[in-house]
Amino acid sequence: MEKFYTTTAIDYVNGAPHIGHAYEKILTDVIFRHFQQRTSDAYMLTGTDEHGIKIQKTSAELNIEPQAFCDMNAQKFIDAWKLLGIDYSQFIRTTQKEHKEIVQKIFKRLVEKGDIYKHSYTGLYCAGCEAFLSEKDLDENGCCPNHQKKPEVVSEENYFFKLTKYKDAIIKHIKENPNFIVPSFRANEVLNQLENIEDISVSRAKTNVSWGIDVLDDNEQVIYVWIDALSNYITALGYDIENPSEKFKKYWPADVQVIGKDILKFHSIYWLAILMALDIPLPKHILAHGWITIDETKMSKSLGNVVSPSSVIESFEMTEPDALRYYMATAAPVGKDGNYSDNDFKEKVNAHLANSMGNLLNRTLSMLVKYFDGEIKPEFIKENELFDKSLKTIQEVKHHFDYFEIAEAAQKIIELVDLTNKYVTDNAPWTLAKEEKMTECGNVLYTVLEVMCVIASLISPYCPNIAQKMAKQLKYDINTKLDDIKINNIKTGKLISKEEISPVFLRLDSELADKGKK
Ligand code: MSP
Repeated sequence: MEKFYTTTAIDYVNGAPHIGHAYEKILTDVIFRHFQQRTSDAYMLTGTDEHGIKIQKTSAELNIEPQAFCDMNAQKFIDAWKLLGIDYSQFIRTTQKEHKEIVQKIFKRLVEKGDIYKHSYTGLYCAGCEAFLSEKDLDENGCCPNHQKKPEVVSEENYFFKLTKYKDAIIKHIKENPNFIVPSFRANEVLNQLENIEDISVSRAKTNVSWGIDVLDDNEQVIYVWIDALSNYITALGYDIENPSEKFKKYWPADVQVIGKDILKFHSIYWLAILMALDIPLPKHILAHGWITIDETKMSKSLGNVVSPSSVIESFEMTEPDALRYYMATAAPVGKDGNYSDNDFKEKVNAHLANSMGNLLNRTLSMLVKYFDGEIKPEFIKENELFDKSLKTIQEVKHHFDYFEIAEAAQKIIELVDLTNKYVTDNAPWTLAKEEKMTECGNVLYTVLEVMCVIASLISPYCPNIAQKMAKQLKYDINTKLDDIKINNIKTGKLISKEEISPVFLRLDSELADKGKK
């Protein structure tokens, strides 16, 4: 694999980031970091979606210039992702000059091609979705099911995109590529939506929406947010119709585009049609993740249950984001909804990261110091069965990541941790030492430490700081590519002294957390 390009949805900046936005960025970052372990060149894009009626209205209510409002809120997303250790390669904002210019050219190109035409239209507009809805999309109360609000009746002369022209090609693509939409059970949903598609409005009259990218040669219209927003995935790479940049040629098509299930239609229908119209190759996969609820309840401002990633980090007095990353990345099987609850979070990370994984390393190193003065003797040999199992786990984890099964891959890693713990219990190196069977005792510790190197590598995309601390104590290079993990990761000779041993993850203290919340 030569390159790997992954993207997230770009978030609206009319509010602050919450745990749902964080879920997606963590998933993508874990995928990105895993593929960094498999390719020499991985690239991750994230960013913010800054145009449209919602931002126009919110900034007007606050009496702030829309651009200043976007600047202020985009910073909140940048700060949140820093806090969570999201290691993106690029952060795009749709109000950036370079983006706006390329979007204008894309729009013009589609007009010239005859794929965009002007048309008078009356439709039901949901500002929450920034989209026109049809009667069929509404619930029994005539409300948008995602935003629980009645859409506004809007009559305008707009530009329309000939989506219907691409309908058959999109259906064919989805049917011929059963892994294009991940998870595949969502493909049917998209195929059903495709049955009833119509051409879509791709501009708004400036009299109604002024905060958008101007249509070139028509000063009465702005480009409707979805053409603007979707294009970010290629404008960020410097796509240009006549002269695509080196970066674009290198990274496009995207290997996986991660989005929430609510915006799958835009990505698996509109986005494909735009790319087809521009004669650009299609992304390899669209990963539609599920929804995150809080204590099994949908997050909403009116319920007052919106959880921000920073509030979790602060209330548990965490010094690094690894535990929250691990918890979120394993919150649900691929594509299914997941839930956040303080209790569950604390229990899961204490059990997996502290009790199982952290303690395993800690007590093994402590025994190595106690019985061998921290030294790996040249005569130590590995127990093949467990070590082979660890190598097999690498293949299983890779296989899960090939299908973007992030939670399932983590499960395999924890299984290996559990098996290694069992190996220690079954072989009782403390008893072997007591019986003065020192070589056998050393073999057990050595085997465990070798396996711990594999575990550190595999857990690193989820918990980069913890993995780094593990690697430091194992004198192991955490940047080792997965395929280069050797038979002998641990060198013979002095590995560690008593002073160098420190826990890689401290249990989250429940009392502390409760105190913080109050
Ligand atoms: N701006 C558009 C996306 C344009 S992509 C070219 C948008 N923004 S959003 O801020 O509403 O959502 C951003 C992402 O966060 C979406 O993928 C959305 O599905 C995801 N989530 C928003 N709330 C969420 C949860 N409660 N749970 C999980 N993901 C959620 O849509």
